[in-house]
Amino acid sequence: MPPSTIKVEIKRQSSPDTAPVTEKFEIPYRPGMNITSLLGEIALNPVDVAGKSTTPITYDSNCLEEICGSCAMLINGKARMACSALVDKLEQPITLAPLSKFPVVRDLAVDRSVLFENLKKVKAWVPIDGTYDLGSGPKQFPQVQEQRYPLSNCISCCCCMEVCPQFNDVTNFVGAATIAQAKLFNMDPSGAVLKEERLRALSGDGGIQECGFAQNCVQACPKELPLTESISDMSRDVFVQKVKDIFTS
Ligand code: SF4
Ligand code: SF4
Ligand code: FES
Repeated sequence: MPPSTIKVEIKRQSSPDTAPVTEKFEIPYRPGMNITSLLGEIALNPVDVAGKSTTPITYDSNCLEEICGSCAMLINGKARMACSALVDKLEQPITLAPLSKFPVVRDLAVDRSVLFENLKKVKAWVPIDGTYDLGSGPKQFPQVQEQRYPLSNCISCCCCMEVCPQFNDVTNFVGAATIAQAKLFNMDPSGAVLKEERLRALSGDGGIQECGFAQNCVQACPKELPLTESISDMSRDVFVQKVKDIFTS
């Protein structure tokens, strides 16, 4: 028998500088709910378990199908996406908290711009000269396409960084997602023009040498990117680049 209500405890913070508090809710059960719909129910009637009125919970979401990467949060202590976390599969009381390694904006919404800054560091893009029609790009072998495709599935959710023991203020480590995207663009025939710059960026402060190979990242990734394989491959390429630079400087 499914429960008649869903018990949920949410860590809330009204602004970046205020102390967090926990609010408890009890929501009528409906089959097939996910965490996003649960938060939607609270927004419709923001009253806590003691009957006290409160404000709707702030959180990020957009696609509702694990594509945009915006709804990552800690659900029962685990970094995962709210839209694909089904209430029926979670132990109660369900606990919700913001990702812990990123500045809180409000409630469950955090500022994950560090990932985009890190992607800029490694130039994770294909450079084009202007916006005119460049014609079809260089051909790629299907084997290379097959290796690149899983890397292109990254949704920038930052779960891999949240669970990484090395992703912290001391190391400045860029994290697994950035390394995987550097690999993706190094394998692109047009993107490879920046390959050496990417490898040098990954050998600097907070670079690939900070990875302790704990492999938490690969287990947390909702899109199952081959993160540890990417880190191994890029470690090798960074080393080769360093040796080349020694002999050409
Ligand atoms: S292997 Fe470990 S240390 Fe390296 S990025 Fe993944 S979680 Fe972090
Ligand atoms: S590599 Fe996976 S866990 Fe990391 S940001 Fe991309 S999708 Fe999220
Ligand atoms: S809302 Fe887009 S991944 Fe969850």
